[in-house]
Amino acid sequence: MGTSVPDHILTNKDLETLLDTSDEWISTRTGIKQRRVYPRGKDRPAWELGSQAARKALEKAKLTPDLIDGVICATFTPDYFFPSTACKIADSVGIRDAFAFDISAACAGFVYGLAIAHAMIGNGRYRRILLVGAEVISKTLNWQDRSTAILFGDGAGAVIVDAAPDNSQGLLSSWLSSDGALGDILQFPAWGDNRRMTMKGSEVFKHAVRMMSEATVRVVREAGYTLEDVDLLIPHQANMRILNSIADNLSFPTRKVISNLVNYGNTSSASIPLALEHAWETGRIVPGALVAFTSLGGGLAVGSALVRF
Ligand code: UT7
Repeated sequence: MGTSVPDHILTNKDLETLLDTSDEWISTRTGIKQRRVYPRGKDRPAWELGSQAARKALEKAKLTPDLIDGVICATFTPDYFFPSTACKIADSVGIRDAFAFDISAACAGFVYGLAIAHAMIGNGRYRRILLVGAEVISKTLNWQDRSTAILFGDGAGAVIVDAAPDNSQGLLSSWLSSDGALGDILQFPAWGDNRRMTMKGSEVFKHAVRMMSEATVRVVREAGYTLEDVDLLIPHQANMRILNSIADNLSFPTRKVISNLVNYGNTSSASIPLALEHAWETGRIVPGALVAFTSLGGGLAVGSALVRF
């Protein structure tokens, strides 16, 4: 796995100078203290962040680009409808003769990508797939809207999904679902003058807790385990209170819930790979660990996965 974030740190204190908000409000309501963003007017394309993360993942895996059979990128901040962000990443990293496509499942995109990569490898046609979550959200935000501007950050995370030696390792189960009837509570139009994210925050909050909790229970049960068997839960990093409420709902110890919200905010499809790398680098994931991922994004799209490392 590999990650990349912009160098520039935007703190809650910085936001106090831009918006009618306070460090205290943001910290207590979200758990976020700072986020990485490109300074305004100096943004870079999402594929560039994604490529940096992908190169690190390849280096760490000691793999050359010719060994990758395909690239999947989850993003809601592509630079083009086409070419896809995945095609741009493949080209930049030097991956040739490989499939490449983007998926649109907002903050659930990484888990959707994991399930798709697993299925494509599982049917025997492909051996190794580069999965990237890459977002430059800062350039899409309405910096006058304090309910959204404070939440998000830019970042990318990449993993190489490889065929496991046997069925006891790797992705044990995944569960993907959606509720399009709730699409209007979190949306970002593709056309028109009002091309900005809009969010009914407290509605999203309520459904995020409910749906991410359900998705966790479901994926663990379908693999034949119980929540007590799970060593770590890596949820989409939406809001610290959402993460705590999920833990409460599931009677799951908060010490086993990975969070890096304090430093990165919500980076949408990049949030799980960023949190995963954090867990990995800090020694929280040991060989044999059972790790659950759960996510929810605009759509509403929901996805969970259970992985044995
Ligand atoms: O990845 C999925 C994408 N989105 C999410 O996961 C977001 C989920 N929702 C949330 O995280 C929370 O709903 C928010 C952090 C967005 C908002 O927190 P909340 O506790 O639900 O606050 P609220 O929207 O109910 O607003 C409470 C008050 C309001 O003032 P009044 O009407 O009570 O006077 C807001 O205007 O807080 C006000 N407010 C703020 N005050 C200071 C909203 N944003 C801010 C702000 N600073 N940044």
